[in-house]
Parts: sequence; structure tokens; C-alpha cells
Amino acid sequence: MTAVEQREVESLAIEAARAAGARIRKAWLEARQVEYKGPVDLVTSTDREAEALIVSRIRTSFPNHAVVAEEACAGSPLRPPSATEPAWYVDPLDGTVNFVHGIPHFAVSIAFGYGTTIEVGVVYDPMRDELFSARRGGGAFLNETRIFVSTTNTFHRALFATGLPYDRQERADYYISFLRDFVASAQDIRRFGSAALDLCWVAAGRYDGFWEWRLHPWDVAAGSLIVNEAGGMVSTFRGQPLDLFGDQIVATNLALHAQTCIRLINRLGATHNAPT
Ligand code: IPD
Ligand code: CA
Ligand code: CA
Repeated sequence: MTAVEQREVESLAIEAARAAGARIRKAWLEARQVEYKGPVDLVTSTDREAEALIVSRIRTSFPNHAVVAEEACAGSPLRPPSATEPAWYVDPLDGTVNFVHGIPHFAVSIAFGYGTTIEVGVVYDPMRDELFSARRGGGAFLNETRIFVSTTNTFHRALFATGLPYDRQERADYYISFLRDFVASAQDIRRFGSAALDLCWVAAGRYDGFWEWRLHPWDVAAGSLIVNEAGGMVSTFRGQPLDLFGDQIVATNLALHAQTCIRLINRLGATHNAPT
């Protein structure tokens, strides 16, 4: 993909993310209608409206591109696009539980790539008006300013973010065993409820690392490119290349990556009731 094509796609993604963010900010002041997709998995009319707005902008400019968007994909098996297929990954509102509870921490996440090779990523936090963006090979930015991961290289000084997936009620002990290990050995842990922002905050050096299970491609496609372009590293717990359609993600400032993977692998080997 040429730099000119990347820029064209990026400006569409930025425009769509800002428009969706404005819609979400407006809805923030209104009564929220909540539906349950699963025992703890929420959706609101705002998720759907923001997604429709983003997808219609994409379709107007690129009618033949694949769109992997959270609400449209709900309930159907996910199919990774082929390696050469132009594809968009859209999470219209990452952090719906926060939104529903009136906690101002959520984002719009939009990525574009060929198959699962992401070329452009945009994550917009509408409450802080923070726009994180990256083009492959072009660095990572917060608004207009270039961002870089932290330089922390000792585990006990590292601040980690994590999340607890939607099967947490069946596997509470399993997920908590990882938390326990990090709480005992790192500086501290945060669980703020937006994986897209967790990744961007690693990219911006606010967190030193992040891990989570069972995320979806729309949660991590944009944020993982932004981490890489900020000088960080993203992989599976075992250090394999990230699979957008896979079950695990760990992102760090690179200096801490091996140490973090070793801890995660040790837990994987030591725990029971692991997801299959
Ligand atoms: C969720 C958030 C949360 C993570 C969940 C995700 P949603 O996305 O990213 O941080 O822990 O696993 O599903 O449902 O608010 O778009
Ligand atoms: Ca999400
Ligand atoms: Ca969402």
C-alpha cells in the first residue's frame, strides 16, 4: 500500500471515528437503552448507531471492501478475510459497560488492512478528545504529537493493564490467578474496561504492558498497530505473532516483553480450568 493510499484511508477513518465519537458524546447525556447480548455482555442503541454511521462512510468510499464490525458480526461465526482482501475492523464503542454506567472511559476503534495485516489504525477517545493513530511504517501519534512506549525495564516498576473477558464468571479463578501473579510482582494493575484504550495507553507510555484473553479483531486491530508503531511489541502469550482472530494478546514497551511472556506462560502451565 502506498503512503498516499494509507493517508486516504486514514483520513476516512479519522473522520468516521470523530463523527461516531460526537454521536457517543451526545448520547452520553441522554437516557441509555441497554440490551444484553450474553450474561454480562451489553449493547446499547448508541453502539448500533455509531457503527451504522462508520460503516456507511466506509461503504460510500469503498463499496467492495470487507467490513468486520462488532454489532453486524454479533451471533455469526467470524471469518478472517483472505490475505489480499481489503478489510476494515470496526468497534464503534469499546467500553460499553463503562458507557452504560456513566464512566467516561471508552473509545471508537477503526482499522484497515489487507487480510489481517493492518496498515492504518485509529482509536478515538471522545471524552478526552484524544485521537490515537498510526500508519504502518509511519510512527504512532496522539492528536498531532508522536508517541512512544515507556522505557521501564524492571518488572517491579511496571504498571500493567488487563481485562477480564466475557466468560469470566465460569473461569474466575483462572483469570484471577494471572492477576494475583502480576499484583505480587509488578508495580500495580489497572482494569479500566476498554481494550482499545489499554493498547493506546501502552503506546503512549502510560502503561508499560497489557494482557487479555478472548478479545475480538475489532478490539485490537487498530491498537496493536499503534503499539508497534510507538516502538512496542504485541504477541500471543507465548511470544508468537499476534493472531487478530486468536485468543490471547500481550502488548508491552518491548523492553519488558520477554519477562512478561515468561510470567504468562508460567501461569498457563500452572493453572486449571483454562479455556480450550
Ligand atoms: C470490551 C472491552 C473490555 C474488554 C472486553 C471487551 P466492548 O469491549 O474492550 O475492556 O475487557 O473483553 O469485549 O464489548 O465494550 O466493545
Ligand atoms: Ca470492544
Ligand atoms: Ca464494542
